[in-house]
Amino acid sequence: MYGTFLAASAITAVMVFVSLQFVSAPYGRHARRGWGPAVPSKIGWIVMEGVAALAIVYFFLRQHPTMTPTLWLLIGLWEVHYINRSFIYPLRTRTRGKTNPVAIVLMAMAFNTWNGYLNGHWLGAHAADYTASWIQRPSFIAGLACFAAGFAINVWSDEILLRLRSGTNTGYTVPRGGLFRFVSCPNYFGELVEWTGWALMTWSPAGLVFVLWTAANLVPRARSHHRWYREQFADYPRERRAIIPFVY
Ligand SMILES: NC(=O)c1ccc[n+]([C@@H]2O[C@H](COP(=O)([O-])OP(=O)(O)OC[C@H]3O[C@@H](n4cnc5c(N)ncnc54)[C@H](OP(=O)(O)O)[C@@H]3O)[C@@H](O)[C@H]2O)c1
Repeated sequence: MYGTFLAASAITAVMVFVSLQFVSAPYGRHARRGWGPAVPSKIGWIVMEGVAALAIVYFFLRQHPTMTPTLWLLIGLWEVHYINRSFIYPLRTRTRGKTNPVAIVLMAMAFNTWNGYLNGHWLGAHAADYTASWIQRPSFIAGLACFAAGFAINVWSDEILLRLRSGTNTGYTVPRGGLFRFVSCPNYFGELVEWTGWALMTWSPAGLVFVLWTAANLVPRARSHHRWYREQFADYPRERRAIIPFVY
C-alpha cells in the first residue's frame, strides 16, 4: 500500500502544479473573496504548519524504531525547520487584520499530515538502514550541505521581507538585498533547495515526493508573485527572475 500511496502523491503533485497555473492560493497578496470563512493569518500558519512537526514524530514512532544518531539528526533537522515555520516565523509576521481561508488551512493540514506520514513511516520502517555510517555517504553529505544552505536562504529571505514592514503597516514594497538581487522569491528558492537536501540525505522516495510537492506549490506561486510585482511597481528590476536565479 505504501508504494501506491507514494505514486498517488507524486501524481497528485503534478495535478496540483497544473491547477496552480490557473489559480493562486488565496492568501497573502493573492487573498480574495469567495473562499468561505477565514481565520487570522498567524493562527492559520501556527495550526497548519504545527501539524507537520507532530505528524512525522507520530508516524515514525508507530514503527517502534531503534534510534540511531543518524535518525536523531534527520528528525532534528525536520523539527528545526518546522518549529521555525510554525511558531517563530508566524509570530514575527506583520499581518494584522489579514486572514487565511479555513479551506486553505485545512488543505495545508491534510498535506502536512500526509507528508509527515510518508516521511515518518519511511524513516521508521527503514530505521535499521540509517546507521552511523549512513552519514558518510556522499548523498548524505551533499544533502546536508543543501539542507543547511536552503534553510539559511529561506530564513534570511523571510527576514528581509519581515523587515519591510513596521508598526501596523501591512503594505508591500520592493524587496532588495540578499538573493532578491536575482529572484522575486528567494524564500521559496531556499525552501526548494532545503527539501532537495532532505531527499538526498534520506535517499528516499518519500523525500523525493516532498520535493515534487514543494515545487508544485512554490514554482507557480513564485510566478504569480513575480507577475504581481511587475504589475504593481513600474521600476521593478527587469533582470530579476521568479524563483531560480538566472533560470526562471
Ligand atoms: N513547503 C511549501 O510547500 C511551502 C508552501 C508555502 C509557504 N512556504 C514557506 O512559508 C514561508 C511564507 O510563505 P508565503 O507564501 O507567505 O511567503 P511570501 O508571500 O513571500 O510572504 C512572506 C511574508 O512577508 C510578507 N511580504 C511578502 N512580500 C512582501 C513585500 N514585498 N513587502 C512587504 N511584506 C512582504 C508577507 O505578507 P502578506 O502575508 O501580507 O503577503 C508575509 O508575511 C516561506 O518561507 C515559504 O517558503 C512553504
